[in-house]
Amino acid sequence: MTALLEATDLVKHFPASRNLFGRPTSFVRAVDGVSFHVEAGETLALVGESGCGKSTVSRLVLRLIEPDAGSVRFEGRDLLALDANELRAFRRQAQIIFQDPYASLNPRMTVGQILGEPLALHELVPPNARRARIEELLRLVGLEPRFARRYPHEFSGGQRQRIAIARALAVEPKLIICDEPVSALDVSIRSQILNLLRDLQDRLGLSYIFVSHDLAVVKHIADRVAVMNLGGIVETAETDALFAAPLHPYSRALLSAIPVPKPQAKRARIILQGEMPSALNPPSGCRFHTRCPFTVERCRLEVPELRQEQRHGTGHAINHAVACHRVGELPPAEAVVPSDGGFSPVLEKLVAAFSHPVEAAAVAGVNKVSTSGGAEAEGRER
Ligand SMILES: Nc1ncnc2c1ncn2[C@@H]1O[C@H](COP(=O)(O)OP(=O)(O)O)[C@@H](O)[C@H]1O
Ligand SMILES: [Mg+2]
Repeated sequence: MTALLEATDLVKHFPASRNLFGRPTSFVRAVDGVSFHVEAGETLALVGESGCGKSTVSRLVLRLIEPDAGSVRFEGRDLLALDANELRAFRRQAQIIFQDPYASLNPRMTVGQILGEPLALHELVPPNARRARIEELLRLVGLEPRFARRYPHEFSGGQRQRIAIARALAVEPKLIICDEPVSALDVSIRSQILNLLRDLQDRLGLSYIFVSHDLAVVKHIADRVAVMNLGGIVETAETDALFAAPLHPYSRALLSAIPVPKPQAKRARIILQGEMPSALNPPSGCRFHTRCPFTVERCRLEVPELRQEQRHGTGHAINHAVACHRVGELPPAEAVVPSDGGFSPVLEKLVAAFSHPVEAAAVAGVNKVSTSGGAEAEGRER
């Protein structure tokens, strides 16, 4: 079976400075050889610190920007080879929602116009059926149909994100890239939006690429996780496996949220000032070596490749790949989040929010889902 989406060796460098003649003299290596795939109906999370290239990967995958190298295949077709018409057809299949829905919703258009636009553009429903379709979309994301006459500023943040999701759904996509979709929302509203996304996935068979720097959120939404550091993927694993035993030193640091010990405190200061790892001037070899407690000479020299890990004893590949020269020699990885519940306070809060699902009636059919939770609970937030 071909994957829904397959990205291979994507590279994107942005010019950071130019000389007198306009020639770039330095580059931000935002994405530097990234490969991954997404299966139908699956959620792949892209996690990593701010600036590691997550949004750039998202835009490359949708061909909103062109890669310097690498390829993206959607249902086996090479996106870079599409002509204008084919690209337009592809845009129906893959949508994106952003952290700040207000910035992506035209303030001068009513919600009805916002949702009607893609329907008209892609000629999805005849004009006389559009109104009904718009109302159906609003119900689908838990908003009242009468909201179609209102403007984006009349809604709370969570409701605006629901509108953005409805607009993405209008074209009946197969893939939605969610770029930090809940990062700007209150914790309580967050879980409602995440529940809505999961629920829509179950019912519509959607695939998501879920971009986030927040691991608590990722743990609850993703099937698989790809951990990014400075423009590269350092580890990919099933979500449970990653949280049970992160292997890459960077993933361990990220997951435990313990600051990575800086080697030789004083000198480290100097090193950090001079060579603060950035995508503008990334470290040689393993890009994590300047912050890694396990660095040896080889890490400074050789770029480690993402390799499948073998599970000890069985010899089976376990769908867990790591890019680290020393992975076999590291101390055993510890579970970051015990499965019996000893979560950190932040996780606890989120888990609590999850255990009071808004929509007990997910079974109640297409138009009923999350109607109650969404609109009313968020009404309080305004
Ligand atoms: N259009 C651009 N021009 C120049 N640099 C960019 C551009 N877009 C992103 N970058 C740089 O690329 C790196 C990765 O950015 P981004 O993909 O937005 O990271 P993330 O989403 O993980 O925070 C950052 O250093 C950022 O400053
Ligand atoms: Mg981003």
